[in-house]
Amino acid sequence: MRTQVAIVGAGPAGLVLAHLLRAAGIASVVIERRTRDYVEGRVRAGVLEQGTVAALARLGLDRRLRTEGLVHTGTTLAMDGETFRIDMADLAGGAVTIYGQQEVMRDLFDAAETHGMPIVFEAADVQLHDIDGASPSISYRTAAGPQHLACDVVAGCDGSHGICRQFIPEAVRKTFERVYPFGWLGILAEVPPAAHELIYASHANGFALSSMRSPTRSRYYIQCGIEERIEDWPDARFWDELCLRLGSETAAGVVRGPAFEKSIAPLRSFVGEPMQYGRLFLAGDAAHSVPPTGAKGMNLAVSDVLMLAEALEDFYARNERSGLDGYSARALARVWKAERFSWWFTGLTHRFPEATGFDRRMQVAEFAYLRTSRAAQTAFAENYIGLPLDQST
Ligand code: FAD
Ligand code: DHB
Repeated sequence: MRTQVAIVGAGPAGLVLAHLLRAAGIASVVIERRTRDYVEGRVRAGVLEQGTVAALARLGLDRRLRTEGLVHTGTTLAMDGETFRIDMADLAGGAVTIYGQQEVMRDLFDAAETHGMPIVFEAADVQLHDIDGASPSISYRTAAGPQHLACDVVAGCDGSHGICRQFIPEAVRKTFERVYPFGWLGILAEVPPAAHELIYASHANGFALSSMRSPTRSRYYIQCGIEERIEDWPDARFWDELCLRLGSETAAGVVRGPAFEKSIAPLRSFVGEPMQYGRLFLAGDAAHSVPPTGAKGMNLAVSDVLMLAEALEDFYARNERSGLDGYSARALARVWKAERFSWWFTGLTHRFPEATGFDRRMQVAEFAYLRTSRAAQTAFAENYIGLPLDQST
């Protein structure tokens, strides 16, 4: 089998890329390790930046998003019972849209089916070959036996546990990482959310987030120890701790109900440089991770592939290589800014076991500054709604 662009991974990065390429008349094949149900069933991100919404709209993938997505023009921050709202519409002229990653994936898969886009599910033992030559290829196994896919370019969209990154030689690869000494315990419950916008709260016991998927479905998170297990958190304990951390005013609006999904995610900041080698180009979590605090993970996956698709279009339509050659530098410029915002917001709102009295006072001062400074709130707002694809550096 032969295609122009072989895409490894059918997450948001891989599938949005496949749709962008299709719209540009470029052929691709997506190779995914899991089933569609598995990929679509993963409960992950919930906040779409306006650039992500615009990209999906341009691809005609926003029919459900427009009717079911919840547009939020502000978000609330709370520390030790004191709260204030950041008005993103007023400060940065924008908004975010609440629409779960599961819904995004469903729309992407449905449209891929409608257009007959080739996606191979349950592909095992994916290996890349000759990415530093002119004729790269991918080998993998399906139920039908060993397979081989020749291509011009490989897009490594296989997430943080993927294999593509390892095909960049160690001598070339640099990694930058911060592992946080805590995780997020998240639940989904079929109950109305505590408030109509998101609330990010910092409390002596740790961080808490009140979010939602719809007017009848709540998504809540609390900071937990990395050594903790889901079994340590029966529903009643979770609700009690959540209400305590959100503060009595917000807690009055919390409607309790059985959690039908409960999971713990570790937090880390990670960037692998460069994001390309030979004919391999990495995008999304395959190249970088952010702690979820800024809701940037899925949005970064989309901005990466917007840049990669543009570069591939120049390459195929005009035989112009400069976009591809400059892809990593262009993508990393935006990635590092999102890394900074997610790291900063995590540092502001979480309790660090090793924090000194000085560190705590810095958090309190930072929060007070943000509460009272329009300039600081504007900086928050423009990062939260999503920075433009390119900014002069
Ligand atoms: P992924 O979504 O990971 O997709 C990669 C795909 O590649 C997967 O389908 C995988 O099965 C496939 N794959 C992996 N290895 C191979 C292989 N060898 N061969 C073939 N296929 C392979 N972001 C937020 O903004 N907010 C959140 O609340 C949030 N919560 C998260 C919770 C968890 C537990 C995790 C893991 C992530 C969370 N994120 C969150 C981050 C966000 O979901 C990711 O940034 C986003 O999914 C990245 O998309 P991606 O396409 O790059 O990678
Ligand atoms: C959600 C996740 C986030 O990481 C965030 O910052 C806001 C909302 C969510 O899953 O709803």
